[in-house]
Amino acid sequence: MASAVSAVKTDGAAHVALNPLREGIESNRVADPCTIVFFGASGDLFKRMLMPAVYSLRLKDILPINFGLLGFARTPYTDDQFRDYCKQAVEQSLQPDAIKDSLWDDLAQHIGYITADFNNTKHFTDLKKRLEDDEKRFGVSNRLFYLATPPSVFPKIVEQLKHAGLDPAGNSAGWTRIIVEKPFGTDLASARALQTEVEKVFNENQVYRIDHYLGKETVQDIMALRFANTIFEPIWSRNYVQSVQITAAETLGVEKRGAYYDNAGALRDMIQNHVLNLLALVAMEPPASSDADAIRNEKYKVFSAIEPPAPGDVPQMSVRGQYGAGTIAGEQVVAYRSEPDVSPNSNTETYAALRLYINSWRWAGVPFFLRSGKRLARKCSEIAITFNPIPHRLFGEKSDTIEQNVLVIKIQPDEGVSIRFNAKVPGQKNHIRSVNMDFNYGTGFGVKSAPAYERLLADAMRGDATLFTRWDAVQRAWEIVMPLLDVWQATKDPTFPNYAAGSDGPEAARVLNPGWRAL
Ligand code: BG6
Repeated sequence: MASAVSAVKTDGAAHVALNPLREGIESNRVADPCTIVFFGASGDLFKRMLMPAVYSLRLKDILPINFGLLGFARTPYTDDQFRDYCKQAVEQSLQPDAIKDSLWDDLAQHIGYITADFNNTKHFTDLKKRLEDDEKRFGVSNRLFYLATPPSVFPKIVEQLKHAGLDPAGNSAGWTRIIVEKPFGTDLASARALQTEVEKVFNENQVYRIDHYLGKETVQDIMALRFANTIFEPIWSRNYVQSVQITAAETLGVEKRGAYYDNAGALRDMIQNHVLNLLALVAMEPPASSDADAIRNEKYKVFSAIEPPAPGDVPQMSVRGQYGAGTIAGEQVVAYRSEPDVSPNSNTETYAALRLYINSWRWAGVPFFLRSGKRLARKCSEIAITFNPIPHRLFGEKSDTIEQNVLVIKIQPDEGVSIRFNAKVPGQKNHIRSVNMDFNYGTGFGVKSAPAYERLLADAMRGDATLFTRWDAVQRAWEIVMPLLDVWQATKDPTFPNYAAGSDGPEAARVLNPGWRAL
């Protein structure tokens, strides 16, 4: 990310206000020449997100001409078959007119595939040979390994890379980096075990842990909203804020991911990573600069100021839920326990809500309510900051409710920011009613936000780790959720299923926070 340039207004004269984040947004700096090896290239993530992102980067001239892409996965493909598969992936996810034949034909020449078993050492030796040949052809020496596989094979792949001499030490001609998809571990112990394996081969600055929420424009804009404006920061504390609510609600069920999800649940799948990262961006102190580590230091400080709950407190500070059958957008959908690859007695939560406190001067005593769930009434990710009530009432008829001010950062799908405040209703009477002032990204900037993976891939190729999670934060996030995971795993919830698909979630969540914004 661009270095911070502060603009301090010293007099009334016109001056150029430099926005510290502007350079980062505007420059389409070409990424470093490299080969990306996608482990798990025959999987869903590669097809839906990664390949379309690579192609879009080429369209935007961010992908360097000196570039190679190798797929490495179990499904047998020849190079040509894999190229067709990649083209289909692009066609299915981008507008048909985005595919430019000459551009595609050129890119396809840089794409190859190795049918592989991650346990087979020889396949990694084949990979090395193929990489070296391609590197000569394409004039590159940098290597980016992308682990788009089930997490259970991450340690194996890392070990095999080292064994085959594909570790950073084995590539003196260029850099070697690794991108690890989430989840990084399935609990604190497995995350630590994975980190131990990763550390044997890669330094921390060569590891890019993906949390795709951080690649969303609106998530990056949280920092811009806070630190590129002066009006919010003075009221951004316990002195003015009553509570903070973070929601990541989905209408989707578990789709075809029942086998993964039934061993994960909402806490592992969304809260430990995406939702806690949102919390860190809302709660962090202004970083000293916009350097990756300056920002990540502040995020870590937020996590370290959150006390993991004592097991005995878990029932009072959290609610878990599982969806039953219901209706989403007019269509009947089945209960979680009837989804493919899900146990009919599953105790896995598809909804989690919790209340956390940050023990700092800025936030002491302010509850942070977090919730995330599947098969809810509406897809909506947002952060709502509710300010204190007015101290003394002067206006409004007796029957009027004077609502509290709320600032809502809308992450998706209606990306924007809205502020709720009170205004006098026109007329002879003194009625007061709350109104919204809205900023919408689409109309405000007239451009569609790029998908998160585009930004993240390009950043990893440029060596900018700002939007990736550092090990200390990942570890602390596990520490925070572990007591909940342990208690929920050890005790079966007899009320499951406790919310209908298409609803706002379990009733018990209202007890935790009566003020939840409706979905
Ligand atoms: C993923 C989770 O990390 O995020 C999925 O594994 C979830 O279960 C997805 O559906 C939500 O991402 P988004 O960008 O659609 O909000």
